[in-house]
Amino acid sequence: MVAKVIDGKAFAAKVRAQVAAHVARLREEQGLQPGLAVVLVGEDPASQVYVRNKHASTVEVGMASFEHRLPAETSEADLLARIARLNADPAVHGILVQLPLPKHLDSDLVINAIAPAKDVDGFHISNVGLLGTGQKSMVPCTPLGCLMMLRDHHGSLAGLNAVVVGRSNIVGKPMAQLLLGDSCTVTIAHSRTKDLAAVCRGADILVAAVGRPEMIPGDWVKPGATVIDVGINRIERDGKARLVGDVHYESAAAVAGAITPVPGGVGPMTIACLLANTLTACCRAGGLPEPEGLTA
Ligand code: GUN
Repeated sequence: MVAKVIDGKAFAAKVRAQVAAHVARLREEQGLQPGLAVVLVGEDPASQVYVRNKHASTVEVGMASFEHRLPAETSEADLLARIARLNADPAVHGILVQLPLPKHLDSDLVINAIAPAKDVDGFHISNVGLLGTGQKSMVPCTPLGCLMMLRDHHGSLAGLNAVVVGRSNIVGKPMAQLLLGDSCTVTIAHSRTKDLAAVCRGADILVAAVGRPEMIPGDWVKPGATVIDVGINRIERDGKARLVGDVHYESAAAVAGAITPVPGGVGPMTIACLLANTLTACCRAGGLPEPEGLTA
């Protein structure tokens, strides 16, 4: 079997277009413009690139983008005061504090200072609890993007065996909760799992989110399974820099039913889902119907 390639770039473009159309309607009919505030503390070069991309994508879908660039030595009190102002600002519907923060700042404290309804990353402890108990919440962007692609490919996920390899708070755990919410039978596997190969071979849906280049070979994939590769690992091969996933793509694509490539799979969905979450937050704040197909 040769797997269908799930084109995340095209899917993300579709999601962004849906968001843009909804934003245009909100502005025209309600005079309401969704706004996203991104807070960057310090000058980490990778974070600067992410923040620039988020700003450009936000503007592109017709939302307001508020960038808050603070010096690396910003005190916790100043950062918390800034977040309090954004929490109270009615033009701001989503707040994202770019991680990692400089070492002197307590990330948990800072993230939990964001108003849960504006926490478009879905990292606030209230949103984690709401998701875990099957209640309406803000859902972390990367797992939300994976869920959208899975629903698009399968229709209903009910009854499917899903294996999530990786137990991070940002991807593995919320991914498992979302799959459970869609009635999958879910296993969370990790570095200490016994006979990981056999566990993976039982998966109708295999989500790899471990951050180890090409650690899942094709012979761990059940024939016809759907493989979602969240990994983005920089490696050097034949003297050239390359991006690879957590799955060995060539061997997995030879047996899977569908697979996301790296790059061009899950990656582009993350920003698209950040925009979707900002739109959802704005609709909820205005007491308006939520956008269809863009939430969990
Ligand atoms: N840094 C890298 N990825 C992310 C993300 O998804 N959210 C935030 N806040 N910071 C990040």
